[in-house]
Amino acid sequence: MLTQMNQRTLDTAAIRGDFPILDDHNERGQRLVFLDSAASSQKPTAVIEALSDFYRTSNANIHRGVYGLSERATALYEQARALVADFINADSPSACIFVRNTTEAINLVAATWGRRHVRAGDLIVATVMDHHSNLVPWQLLAEETGADLAHVRVTGDGRLDLDHLDELLRREPKLVAFPHVSNSLGTINDAATIVRRAHAVGAIVVVDGAQSVPHLPTDVRALDADFLAFSGHKMVGPMGSGVLYGKRELLEAMPPYMGGGGMIRRVELGKATWADIPNRFEAGTPAVADAIGLGAAIEYLSALGMERVREHERELTEVALDRLREVPGLRLLGPTTAEDRAGVISFELGEIHPHDVAAILDGENVAVRAGHHCCQPLMRELGVVATTRASFYLYNTLDDVDRLVAALEKANKIFH
Ligand SMILES: Cc1ncc(COP(=O)(O)O)c(C=O)c1O
Repeated sequence: MLTQMNQRTLDTAAIRGDFPILDDHNERGQRLVFLDSAASSQKPTAVIEALSDFYRTSNANIHRGVYGLSERATALYEQARALVADFINADSPSACIFVRNTTEAINLVAATWGRRHVRAGDLIVATVMDHHSNLVPWQLLAEETGADLAHVRVTGDGRLDLDHLDELLRREPKLVAFPHVSNSLGTINDAATIVRRAHAVGAIVVVDGAQSVPHLPTDVRALDADFLAFSGHKMVGPMGSGVLYGKRELLEAMPPYMGGGGMIRRVELGKATWADIPNRFEAGTPAVADAIGLGAAIEYLSALGMERVREHERELTEVALDRLREVPGLRLLGPTTAEDRAGVISFELGEIHPHDVAAILDGENVAVRAGHHCCQPLMRELGVVATTRASFYLYNTLDDVDRLVAALEKANKIFH
């Protein structure tokens, strides 16, 4: 189990002991260096045990049974919701809807708030930096409603162009959506400023927190976002767990997303009325164990302290940026300083295709991602087809950075 620490950064040796998968070695005896947490993080024993404990001791459907086991399952599920609310400083657990992932959270907003409020000729603003999950739902909404779409440009060093944002805000958009942290470039966007400026023209703001909530302290009240979407599986929680936070007055006025059991007040053959939030948006049997596992993940992260998680990743990123600059032919993308970025580093290595780079790194048991990272428009804007991406989390070490650099040097040797 994790021990409480009193230092500024993390005790990675103790943390690594909490993640059984990190003991994995390849046939050459090289331990796994996992640098793909931006796609999905690894899971600590506490989360794995929360899942198996639920199935062993508390498994029953929730909100329905009048027997003890169902009441226990319901209490654990609602406890997990309270942990989520606390973690992001939401004013109430009912403002936190359990969904499967960020993608579902954003689609929920587009299909409910969007269909209710967006009309032909209205403007929806997203950004060129967005993940497809924060682009395509707005495209679908625009197609259905006849709304217009516009996208905030990205500067040469991988930041949102806030002058262009201001230009678009002068057109008084109905909704502004953006990523707090870019999954391709690691850029930490000035979310509070963007929210403030968007609110000044009356827009509703959707923050994609998939890459920020797992890595930075999050305070939705300070941020003042109307909606915040994030994925549990990227924050040491189970696959299939995710959250949509929304301001209560907005959620309360929204129609349901899916219809079915659990989301109704009264059903007649021809019509129905809706349950209060959050149940209105959780039709059918939810992923109960996964939500409880997300609660365990939040307890794990909270015990470490998100300030320390951030500081650890900032330090690793700073060293990694310096070391990677020394690799011949390597071109870094995104902001140049660790202060402005989370632990995500995208790069090109000379003429070597990112898939070849990733395959060679895999041969050294270094797991990185290669491709467009679900950001095809951003790749086009940057003039690249794909990048290699290394992403850090709380269990990564300076030794992992060494292994990454050594494997890249090997790739250079193989190709030259
Ligand atoms: C910024 C960002 N938004 C959205 C998503 C989609 O997350 P999920 O696949 O969990 O829905 C991701 C996943 O990588 C992401 O990085």
